[in-house]
Amino acid sequence: MKPARSRLRWVAYSAITRMAWADCSGTTTITDITGLTAIATCTNWIGDITVQSMTLGSTATPTPGQPQVANPAIALDSLEQIHGTLAFRDNIAFNGNQIEFIIQATNLSEVSGTLSIANMTLLRMPRFPSLAIARAISLQGLSLYDEVTFGPAQWPSLYALLALTVHDTNITELGGWNLSLAGKFNTTETPTLVLSATSNSALNNISLAGWSNTSSYIVAELADNGPNLHVDLPSFDTASLRVSDVAGFSAPDLITLKTTSSFVLPQEGPDTNTERLSEFQNNTFTALSLPALTTVTSTAYIQDNAYLRTLDLPKLSTLDVLYLFTNDRLENIAFPTLWSVNQGGLLSINSKFSNFSIPALTSSAGSLFLRSTGGYNCGPLKKQQRDLLTFKGSFQCTEAHSGLGTGALVGLIVGVVIAVLILAAITWILLRRRRKSRGAKAEEKEASSGDETTPLPTDRPENVELGAVANEIKELPPGDGPELPGGKVQMAQELETPVVRAELAGKQDGVVERHELHASDPTSNGWPLEKAT
Ligand SMILES: *[C@@H]1O[C@H](CO)[C@@H](O)[C@H](O)[C@H]1NC(C)=O
Ligand SMILES: *[C@@H]1O[C@H](CO)[C@@H](O)[C@H](O)[C@H]1NC(C)=O
Ligand SMILES: *[C@@H]1O[C@H](CO)[C@@H](O)[C@H](O)[C@H]1NC(C)=O
Ligand SMILES: *[C@@H]1O[C@H](CO)[C@@H](O)[C@H](O)[C@H]1NC(C)=O
Ligand SMILES: *[C@@H]1O[C@H](CO)[C@@H](O)[C@H](O)[C@H]1NC(C)=O
Ligand SMILES: *[C@@H]1O[C@H](CO)[C@@H](O)[C@H](O)[C@H]1NC(C)=O
Ligand SMILES: *[C@@H]1O[C@H](CO)[C@@H](O)[C@H](O)[C@H]1NC(C)=O
Ligand SMILES: *[C@@H]1O[C@H](CO)[C@@H](O)[C@H](O)[C@H]1NC(C)=O
Ligand SMILES: *[C@@H]1O[C@H](CO)[C@@H](O)[C@H](O)[C@H]1NC(C)=O
Repeated sequence: MKPARSRLRWVAYSAITRMAWADCSGTTTITDITGLTAIATCTNWIGDITVQSMTLGSTATPTPGQPQVANPAIALDSLEQIHGTLAFRDNIAFNGNQIEFIIQATNLSEVSGTLSIANMTLLRMPRFPSLAIARAISLQGLSLYDEVTFGPAQWPSLYALLALTVHDTNITELGGWNLSLAGKFNTTETPTLVLSATSNSALNNISLAGWSNTSSYIVAELADNGPNLHVDLPSFDTASLRVSDVAGFSAPDLITLKTTSSFVLPQEGPDTNTERLSEFQNNTFTALSLPALTTVTSTAYIQDNAYLRTLDLPKLSTLDVLYLFTNDRLENIAFPTLWSVNQGGLLSINSKFSNFSIPALTSSAGSLFLRSTGGYNCGPLKKQQRDLLTFKGSFQCTEAHSGLGTGALVGLIVGVVIAVLILAAITWILLRRRRKSRGAKAEEKEASSGDETTPLPTDRPENVELGAVANEIKELPPGDGPELPGGKVQMAQELETPVVRAELAGKQDGVVERHELHASDPTSNGWPLEKAT
């Protein structure tokens, strides 16, 4: 009978296809060859696979003189897709010995969660020639031996990735892929790559590109890697960066530096849910150029870069908060196109510079603080401020002298205290005089406010309100107060430590972003040095 026969054939065919396309599922931890064999027929795995402390070969002590098989492998060659995580942990024991080994997954093309390889000091470069898509890849605690570059030569198919963590490895070169971040994952926002490379003592090259035809955002944390690390991040137009110990940095397409706490996390990737300030700190590069950078939203630091001689921000036009602190070889600081320090924002420079220019800034809703220990003359800027610049926030320019000894400092503080006392006395006398000519009601009011602090002579004390936070910004425009010798007016004012706190609430891509801008904290020299974290 025809129908029966054909049904039989169909059943046989179906059994074969099911073998070839086996869907397997569950959470499994593999520690020996039995575990490996158990998944050897699976092509798709739904769930998590952990390969941990593998024992291969015979567990008996090896017979002396008997040759060992070179490079035993943990092979997962049947797997094509994993809907979950794939993790490898700890070295293997082969015939009771720990020897070099490899991991390979020849046909694996997609891991929907994290592919993680950790604490395998005897692992050679793992082989994932077909892997195209992984939500996150994490490599930690690996030596990898001879072949220590990690890029398209080793993993030629990789192109979609949301997070890459490389920590404590001997990798020397990282990247070379052109990543496509869009459309492959369930993210609603701008596709984002989270890159973390820390404590890789031989790492000297990082090069990663997003697609150039679409907007892509990189969140990167780079620190404590090789002393000659050069970083190249082309075609990312938006970034949150923490960069330390880097000898060269380039991001030619970067338009916006920002802080965010609100973008969608790559699941099981590195924690990105904390507020990230952009920061270039303690690098060894001599030049930092961000040729396309137009905007700094929220807070950025360029700080303690002891060799930095050239800072090139030719297109920077608006910013919220930017600190330039102690980049002591940076003599010329220029913001040729900066025209707006935003409301509640701040440009704060405390360093050893001798030249500063900000020609395009004519009005500012934010504040500008300058303190130079490098012989900068505030005169021209103060003139610019008198003639052209109107400030809603505050303005300070201080010509400080480096290398103050303790004696000098004590002297200065004593001087300041005396100056404050004199000012207090003058103010008190003035108040008394005025009070005499006023009615009894006004007298009461003045007496209670007079108790609080010593008022500095100022024409325009301003209260700036942003959102729920009231900010009090005291301003002492140059020339307004009595000129005391040695810049003591400014010093007294610094001791008053202006505090600028702002919360900007804004909508972008339908997501509310909150930025906290901390402009200062009291420190020994009264300058806002503390970071908001
Ligand atoms: C890997 O895929 C190829 C082609 O799809 C197939 O011929 C081969 O058998 C697969 N390898 C394993 C170990 O399943
Ligand atoms: C790797 O080893 C270190 C120290 O032995 C341990 O703290 C860490 O949790 C391990 N990491 C993983 C992913 O197993
Ligand atoms: C990896 O680097 C460490 C030091 O960072 C070194 O001790 C170790 O020998 C290196 N391993 C290899 C295989 O090069
Ligand atoms: C860094 O790696 C990229 C990609 O592999 C390569 O194009 C570039 O020339 C390397 N840069 C340096 C300084 O070696
Ligand atoms: C990445 O893109 C650049 C420019 O489009 C191209 O020159 C390079 O070959 C690409 N690299 C890879 C690994 O596809
Ligand atoms: C993508 O997100 C939507 C909405 O959050 C959810 O319904 C859907 O199941 C997700 N799809 C995948 C493949 O995760
Ligand atoms: C960007 O280019 C890639 C490769 O050329 C293409 O697949 C993708 O559709 C393009 N995306 C956009 C938004 O044009
Ligand atoms: C700065 O870098 C040097 C080496 O380049 C290192 O010794 C020092 O600890 C770093 N300082 C900070 C604060 O990270
Ligand atoms: C100061 O900076 C301006 C503008 O960047 C530049 O034209 C000038 O030459 C600099 N002066 C010195 C003494 O370097």
